[in-house]
Amino acid sequence: MRIDILTIFPEMFSPLNQSMIGKAQERGLVEIHSHDFREFADNKQRHVDDMPYGGGQGMLLMAQPIFDCFASIPKSDQKPPRVILLDPAGVQFDQSKAEELSQEEQLIFICGHYEGFDERIKTLVTDEISLGDYILTGGELAASVMIDATVRLIPAVLGREESHLDDSYSSGLLEYPQYTRPEDFRGMKVPEVLMSGHHENIRKWRLTESLKKTLQRRPDLLENQDLSDEAKSILIDLKKIGPQN
Ligand SMILES: C[S@@+](CC[C@H](N)C(=O)[O-])C[C@H]1O[C@@H](n2cnc3c(N)ncnc32)[C@H](O)[C@@H]1O
Repeated sequence: MRIDILTIFPEMFSPLNQSMIGKAQERGLVEIHSHDFREFADNKQRHVDDMPYGGGQGMLLMAQPIFDCFASIPKSDQKPPRVILLDPAGVQFDQSKAEELSQEEQLIFICGHYEGFDERIKTLVTDEISLGDYILTGGELAASVMIDATVRLIPAVLGREESHLDDSYSSGLLEYPQYTRPEDFRGMKVPEVLMSGHHENIRKWRLTESLKKTLQRRPDLLENQDLSDEAKSILIDLKKIGPQN
């Protein structure tokens, strides 16, 4: 996958050179290019922002530097890129959006700043995406989160040990509790079933714990789920005894 980021703060993407995403770049599974669109400003002072027509507070990113920077990015003829504008008014990012984006060959992120951007920038984009219902200073942190969540889903980025299939949200449920050594840490013991070696009992315990946690914390996730008959019957029992137990 190739990822291009249009920003006036390219240094803000250096954390993506660390950890799993850094390794994915080293292994050639993803290429990440950040482009400073200030370099494309066609005025002597390299201004990228101006006052809004009609008045109002703050400055807006101008269309010209972003259009020219966008035009300079190589794009595949076979599969057009997904062009994502970071925008608090966009569709809210979630795991299914990360899964969808991880199937693409090229993603281009456009990071807003200041009070926002000239509306005509939207003619370049295929998606307007928000990280959540709050306002960040710029789109850089939001793009970084989306890139991290998307790239880790590209096959071979995570090893077998770090597989994402059991992660919260991947299965549609929140993840069950996990433990590692020692068996007894300051009187807090690992549930016996996990040390029994009985794979079927462990699988059932994990499913029950996932359903319990989801029912307690995010019952909304259970609403449109295509649950197995086994999960449905566990859920009926959990509802009878109450999710707190
Ligand atoms: C200070 S914000 C501008 C907010 C704008 N005045 C508004 O009310 O929607 C500057 C830029 O940060 C980015 N941004 C801020 N919050 C965001 C969020 N929740 N999700 C994605 N991008 C965000 C957007 O690119 C936005 O244009």
